Amino acid sequence: MAKVIALCNQKGGVGKTTTAINLATYLALSGKRILLIDIDPQGNATSGLGVNKHDIKHSIYHVLIDDADPRSIMIGTQISNLSLFPSNLNLTGAEVELVSVLGREHKLKKALTGLLNDFDFILIDCPPSLGLLTINALSAANSVLIPIQCEYYALEGLGQLVNTVNLVKENINPALEIEGVLLTMADYRTKLTTEVINEVKKFFSGKVYDTVIPRNIRLAEAPGFGKPIALYDKASIAARKYEDFTNELLGVKKESIADSSLRVAEEVEAASEATREAISNAENEIAEPVAGPPKADETIGLRASSQ
Ligand SMILES: Nc1ncnc2c1ncn2[C@@H]1O[C@H](COP(=O)(O)OP(=O)(O)O)[C@@H](O)[C@H]1O
Ligand SMILES: [Mg+2]
Repeated sequence: MAKVIALCNQKGGVGKTTTAINLATYLALSGKRILLIDIDPQGNATSGLGVNKHDIKHSIYHVLIDDADPRSIMIGTQISNLSLFPSNLNLTGAEVELVSVLGREHKLKKALTGLLNDFDFILIDCPPSLGLLTINALSAANSVLIPIQCEYYALEGLGQLVNTVNLVKENINPALEIEGVLLTMADYRTKLTTEVINEVKKFFSGKVYDTVIPRNIRLAEAPGFGKPIALYDKASIAARKYEDFTNELLGVKKESIADSSLRVAEEVEAASEATREAISNAENEIAEPVAGPPKADETIGLRASSQ
């Protein structure tokens, strides 16, 4: 039975889509069956996974408004185990059209009923608003994942978001929980990042993930190539952090701090042993003292000639 998680924050540009794409990818790579639902008319999760949103004939719009069979809009992606409900600008109309529809808050939930056994996780990438599309996501979800950008206005609007979650919980979906809060785009060179992290931890006590996603240019580049970070640059720090975050969300036990310190100590010890050996070998081989370091102009000459 799938766990349904809505990625939600009414602010734009906080990392909802980036987190949706990369969490979905790492979950799929860990063997889970994943459906990612793009319910934002901007269609960034769709294009970020390499699907041309202008070519899509059937999108989540048709499920919400025309009661289309959800399986008819489902498409595969470059990652096996990761399916997508695509979206594009047509969905803009849905926000208005849904207003007059009977059971308008439950359209997505109803559409997903027959799919819950086919997936382990269903992730919903919400638009930057608290309108009917987001309400549909919150109504269909078991939990809400809130990405928060480490910036000056990070906390602004969070009260409103929490109120909306509580209203949905009271009136539409009593089982809805806050899954957790993910801090994104951290830049540890600034004092602000640390301050924001502390403030968010105070506001959402116990709900903030230990993993913090750093600001990283590779993450910003990847959607332009239609690739999750795991395919675009799997060695980047951003890739490692999204993988760590996925493990944290799954509750996969990470190496304890004590274990990892022990491992680091052992590695340092092994490295020093190798260095000591290399130095003693070199000392035995060098009979004559080597020349001193080159003078400044010699160094410049060396640099110039090596270019
Ligand atoms: N950790 C990061 N480092 C650098 N750029 C990022 C990072 N996370 C997201 N971005 C970029 O910031 C922009 C907004 O992110 P996005 O995930 O689309 O936010 P949202 O879905 O909340 O609007 C995008 O251009 C994205 O590529
Ligand atoms: Mg987005």
